[in-house]
Amino acid sequence: MARKVTLIAGDGVGPEVTGAAVRVINAAGGEIEWEPAVAGSGAIEKHGSPLPESTLESIQRNGVGLKGPVTTAVGTGFPSVNVALRKKLDLYANLRPVKNLPGVETHFDDVDLIVVRENTEDLYSGVEHVVAPGVTESVKIITKAASSRIARFAFEYAVRRQRKKVTAVHKANIMKISDGLFLEACRHVAQEFSTVQYQEIIVDNLAMQLVLNPKQFDILVLTNLYGDIISDLCAGLVGGLGLVPGANFGDNCAVFEAVHGSAPDIAGKNIANPLAVIFSGLLMLRYLGLDSVADRIRAAVRRVALCRENLTPDVGGSSTTTQLTESIIQALN
Ligand code: NAI
Repeated sequence: MARKVTLIAGDGVGPEVTGAAVRVINAAGGEIEWEPAVAGSGAIEKHGSPLPESTLESIQRNGVGLKGPVTTAVGTGFPSVNVALRKKLDLYANLRPVKNLPGVETHFDDVDLIVVRENTEDLYSGVEHVVAPGVTESVKIITKAASSRIARFAFEYAVRRQRKKVTAVHKANIMKISDGLFLEACRHVAQEFSTVQYQEIIVDNLAMQLVLNPKQFDILVLTNLYGDIISDLCAGLVGGLGLVPGANFGDNCAVFEAVHGSAPDIAGKNIANPLAVIFSGLLMLRYLGLDSVADRIRAAVRRVALCRENLTPDVGGSSTTTQLTESIIQALN
């Protein structure tokens, strides 16, 4: 029986790349019944809210969503739909596997990192205000509960996937109390997992170490803001944002989306790389137990990627989004 999945196309390049993912998954025999739902500025006109209740209800009902990026205006406008979605559905763990794709040349081969980002608190709590003209304050909220929960997620993932090491990322030398609490929670949870190595690193040093030698890391567990920034850095190691998928997990539902945003600079040009959303779709298929469909798509992508011309311009190719999608579909057969 077909599984129902909420589909949020998003805006900017969102409809182009989610459209590609849907075509590929359908062609591979994914047996998904897509239930469209809206979010972002387009939703305001129709529903009076950038994140309508009907969208949240659809994800809660289906338990699974595939989402395109949604634009958040800089400095003004409505608060981030992405942050709100993660908080409202308590999608506390953001998992971002970062791996090389054969055919995409980068400084490093065999990068295989897992970024585990806390998704519900930190400076993304949205608590900020003007204290006095010219003086502002943003509140960084770190709790023991959320820190322990994300640390446990990282270690349990390590055990399930037979990964060797979890590195907790922090700035507790400066934010002794908040990042100190995060670290304390990680250390505490680490004690329960004797088979997984545990390590700590200050976030600025991590940034440098990743650029010098990413292979020294395995799973990174980070608070929300560091996780956001370091995810993009890691994407750069394997060829860019067009390649890195993501999954937001809660206890009751999961929403799969690329690390990248709505890429307004290339929206509507049919050149956005659909692979990040297609790979997010693979994470979704595996979550649904459809491993053989995911394997088929991954094998097709790998075959197609070997000829660089088949890829989109962001990774050195010369194909459009549509051409790449069609090459993958052809390679499925
Ligand atoms: P971005 O990720 O949209 O773009 C950064 C750079 O990467 C741009 O040069 C863009 O062209 C390129 N890029 C991104 N995705 C690509 C793809 N699939 N193929 C080829 N090139 C790609 O980040 P930016 O510009 O900081 O944010 C734009 C908007 O997206 C903002 O409103 C931001 O709030 C939103 N955003 C939404 C996210 C989400 O919905 N989960 C995540 C990140 C940002």
